[in-house]
Amino acid sequence: MYPKEVKIVEVGPRDGLQNEKGQIALADKVALVENLADAGLNMVETGSFVSPKWVPQMADSGEVFAAIKRKPGVTYSALTPNLKGFEAALAAGADEMAIFGAASESFTQKNINCSISESLERFAPVMATAGANKIKVRGYVSCVLGCPYEGDISAEKVAEVSDRLLQMGCYEISLGDTIGVGTPLKTASMLDIVCKVVPKAKLAVHFHDTYGQALANILIALQQGINVIDSAVAGLGGCPYAKGASGNVATEDVVYMLHGMGIETGIDLDKLIHAGEQITARLGRSTNSKVARALSQ
Ligand code: HMG
Ligand code: MG
Repeated sequence: MYPKEVKIVEVGPRDGLQNEKGQIALADKVALVENLADAGLNMVETGSFVSPKWVPQMADSGEVFAAIKRKPGVTYSALTPNLKGFEAALAAGADEMAIFGAASESFTQKNINCSISESLERFAPVMATAGANKIKVRGYVSCVLGCPYEGDISAEKVAEVSDRLLQMGCYEISLGDTIGVGTPLKTASMLDIVCKVVPKAKLAVHFHDTYGQALANILIALQQGINVIDSAVAGLGGCPYAKGASGNVATEDVVYMLHGMGIETGIDLDKLIHAGEQITARLGRSTNSKVARALSQ
């Protein structure tokens, strides 16, 4: 009923830090990425190549890529909204890219300043350049269970945008509950509808934990056979264009749940907790991970 192994995509250095207002030292960002790799995460979303006017915190992503000591077997990926971002990420040495769309017109406008159909047009040259450079591209779909501007979002729209990204050549589609409003049965019915057009093996889930529903929703996704989960160490994060959105589900909490279910992740929980402690100390705040809190007492 449950997968034997789950791949965790660690988004802390990108989704986790992008919304931080204060300046974070380059060395702290680099240490975070290195600590996560050291803990056994083999997919680390390391930064994003977006407009520095829109997301100032990610302006030094190129420097982060240049400074990290790379661990063999780890994929260091980058978020890229357009060809300019893709080319910058390629020059910085990102191993893999992610393009990001949404199932909501209003969110797409606020987040990337265009309509859903324009966003897909912008992704076409990105996919062509990725193909020419043999770079794998992941596709995000935001607002799959609700939008901060439009409220309910139809699962059919989620399926349609996911299918478009898949047809464009994305190897995996990450379904984002950007504002964490989803509940388990709603998640189940959305996944049922998306799975009619996108094979389960190509899907990942990306839950923010604003309403404390993320682990319950992840359990539903696991029951449906999805075995790729996005999360952020210490539950860091939030999207600057989704007011009220809190952090991603904490990687420590996901790992604890999976290990408790006998599902392998390849992650060392103690080292992961250490990575979380180090970055939260630098940010001057306490962790959002219940597991980290419990095990650090
Ligand atoms: P725009 O203003 O429409 O872009 O922004 P433009 O093409 O008209 O260019 C305007 C200026 O931006 C120009 O500079 C460009 O050179 C520059 P200027 O001439 O004014 O000096 N520019 C860039 N600079 C650096 N890198 C680039 C780039 N592109 C243009 N790639 C744009 C459109 C997409 C650029 C902007 O809206 C943007 O950067 N948006 C990013 C928003 C973002 O990063 N949001 C957070 C990530 S999404 C998320 O968190 C959700 C997710 O986690 C899943 C979930 O939770 O659901 C993935
Ligand atoms: Mg997110």
